[in-house]
Amino acid sequence: MKKIKILNPDNNKTYNFNIIKGSCGPDVVDLTSFYEKTGMFVYDPGFTSTASCSSEITYIDGEKGILLHRGYEIEELAENSDYPEVCYLLLNGDLPNKNEKDKFIQTLTNHTMLHEQILRFYSGFRRDSHPMAVVVGIVGALSSFYPEKIYDFSSNEGKWVAVTRLLAKLPTMAAMAYKYSLGQPFIYPKNELSYSENFLHMLFSTPCGDYSPSKAKIDALDKLLILHADHEQNASTSTVKIAGSSGANPFACVAAGVASLWGPAHGGANESVIQMLRLIGNENNINKYIKKAKDKKDSFRLMGFGHRVYKNYDPRANVLRKYCHRLLNEIDNNNIPLLKLANKLEEIALSDDYFIKKKLYPNVDFYSGIILKALGLPESMFTVIFAVARTVGWISQWKEMIGMEKSKISRPRQLYTGKAKRDFIDINDRK
Ligand code: SDX
Repeated sequence: MKKIKILNPDNNKTYNFNIIKGSCGPDVVDLTSFYEKTGMFVYDPGFTSTASCSSEITYIDGEKGILLHRGYEIEELAENSDYPEVCYLLLNGDLPNKNEKDKFIQTLTNHTMLHEQILRFYSGFRRDSHPMAVVVGIVGALSSFYPEKIYDFSSNEGKWVAVTRLLAKLPTMAAMAYKYSLGQPFIYPKNELSYSENFLHMLFSTPCGDYSPSKAKIDALDKLLILHADHEQNASTSTVKIAGSSGANPFACVAAGVASLWGPAHGGANESVIQMLRLIGNENNINKYIKKAKDKKDSFRLMGFGHRVYKNYDPRANVLRKYCHRLLNEIDNNNIPLLKLANKLEEIALSDDYFIKKKLYPNVDFYSGIILKALGLPESMFTVIFAVARTVGWISQWKEMIGMEKSKISRPRQLYTGKAKRDFIDINDRK
């Protein structure tokens, strides 16, 4: 195995560390014994150069704009698969055959309803609560309906209960958060509907009459869920896994993931993109806001631009832009101006030296908000839809981690820059 040598100038000692190769992507230096050998920590705030684990689920090439799920390109999956099939792939490692897919869908269908007592949690929230606050609370509450004393989540059966209940119930919980914000009655799932159609049904039907979404809307939501399903060790997935590394209840871990996704630098960006486009208003103002985005003294950023890993195009943004055009032409031309403004903003930003130099391209959030708006959802629900989609990524990565023999509790160290030891001063002697 190739090794890397590190010389400590303080004692002129050289340390060797193994280089480990993955199946594709950058090699890693195995630094698990670095502190033990050198007495020093490795310093990498924000984990810009840190591989926190090994995984077989998702591969991203930030330079080439490649995203693979279990080896399949995201473009192929978006074009040829549906969300339940991608869920099966992420969870089990291969695409299902017809029987496997039908059985998996049947399992999810049998668990879409919530325990009736969970419905009471909603009434504890203010009606004007952000739906993400509600979803964090309800998902966390699910851990009390699936307690560890009944479910052994380290066993295969226990893991599968957590996986299937979360995938089946997230759309129901999310739709109920939306209905609660409207003051409308909750709509129960219908077993005869597909995953995405059922989700739209629970979001938009009322007891006064069924809502039957167009195929274009069902497809658009399904593609959106596929494109947001998993993304390697992003902030919210890492949150779920760090929580899970202590052996915490998987429902509580996913609630922590929902909380992390909520931030505007992460999953909250799709809501901020629409707010930003509304702020820009029209094409004449674009240059003014690009100037603000480049001004270090100005906190304004172009929401939906930039990415920690993609230093070229986010392949999901490519696919989403295509569906955006197709969907708006079919169902919602009055959002065309928003799409036109987004396209113009993208065109101008990508010809600006600042964005080219800093490799800031549109990311998955740049177009998703426009599609969600065209589906008839308010901005406050955009990140909730992202959370529904990402649940499969969170729980797949949690399941993979729990299944690893060497799974240890995640416990990073720090560079301490505070006060050195000093004596206590009695309050009467303090100035
Ligand atoms: C998601 O990790 C994932 O995989 C996330 C995600 C997933 O599927 O899970 O892909 C989903 O979260 C997508 C990202 C959504 N967020 C946004 O669109 C918010 C706007 N983007 C930025 O906040 C930022 O680009 C991040 C948070 C996405 C990435 O931040 P980094 O990698 O920590 O980069 P950085 O903030 O250090 O920026 C590098 C430079 C900085 O300038 P300098 O300090 O070097 O001079 O680029 C600038 C930044 O100021 N910059 C921007 C910018 N993004 C970065 N300048 C203007 N507008 C922006 N959007």
